[in-house]
Amino acid sequence: MKKDLLSLLDLEPKDFKHLFDRALELKKRYGRGIMDTRLTGKTLGLIFDKKSTRTRIAFETAMIQMGGHPIYMSTQDTQISRNEPAKDTARVLSRYIDCLAMRTFDHGLVEEFAATSSIPVINALTDSFHPCQILSDIMTVIEHKGGYEGVKIAWVGDGNNVANSWINAASVLGMNLILACPDGHGIRPEILEGSGAETKPNIVLTNDPKEAVKKADVVYTDVWASMGEEAELEHRIKTFQGFQVNKELLSGAKPDVLVMHCLPAHRGEEIAEDVLEAADAAFWDQAENKRHMHKAILEALILNG
Ligand code: CP
Ligand code: NVA
Repeated sequence: MKKDLLSLLDLEPKDFKHLFDRALELKKRYGRGIMDTRLTGKTLGLIFDKKSTRTRIAFETAMIQMGGHPIYMSTQDTQISRNEPAKDTARVLSRYIDCLAMRTFDHGLVEEFAATSSIPVINALTDSFHPCQILSDIMTVIEHKGGYEGVKIAWVGDGNNVANSWINAASVLGMNLILACPDGHGIRPEILEGSGAETKPNIVLTNDPKEAVKKADVVYTDVWASMGEEAELEHRIKTFQGFQVNKELLSGAKPDVLVMHCLPAHRGEEIAEDVLEAADAAFWDQAENKRHMHKAILEALILNG
């Protein structure tokens, strides 16, 4: 049976482990000049209804380096923009391509594509989740911290799609996660309910960024207004005061704290310029690891093993 990756709740601990091990192995082999071309002759379609630099290019380069072909489709250039139903598009694309990565607003649309296509569907970001991002981010945590068990991860900022995927990961893997979000911008109840986070002692919610980062090994932030929320930015900048990841806030974290951001970043809003430009910053490793992790995901879903 085909498998999809729509949310990290689709994965069991052994699936996470396989993806981390394989992505790290592929990265090492790529660094030694070894090309793994197990996807020769395979085609990945990408339907993107939102902008992307990292996710799109990481998927395209991953597919090319593994011997396959990516086909990028902006929603505007397809019949989807003229209201061809998702279920028809999904069935038609299933006759042409081997896997589909989708970035869109409504998570329900990705679910509909997955339900009506015969090929694996990957969520490349929706308003609700960004699973591939968190897989490559945990890979980065493993590289920098030697693992994620016993590591305290603090989220500071909006209770958004990236935060939701951290919650899902922590609910499956049991890692220590504390999220500080301003009142009114916290994690939605259905996300907590869906992941069972409310009953998990390893997942803690607060509205106090200082409490969250206290002795944290990892501090993670993301934009205050996600794609589609741009009109709220001015209001959010006021509401999110005190939630900027800067040197003062980080002084409460462990001295070797790893600061993370999925990017793109808004300097001077959720993160200070000097933190983003730190010489030992991990942001660029996070971006690179998306390509290696996407290879592992594509291989697992397309070859179904
Ligand atoms: N982090 C991330 O998903 O970046 P893009 O929006 O550039 O793909
Ligand atoms: N939360 C951000 C993530 C971008 C990669 C957004 O959805 O715009």
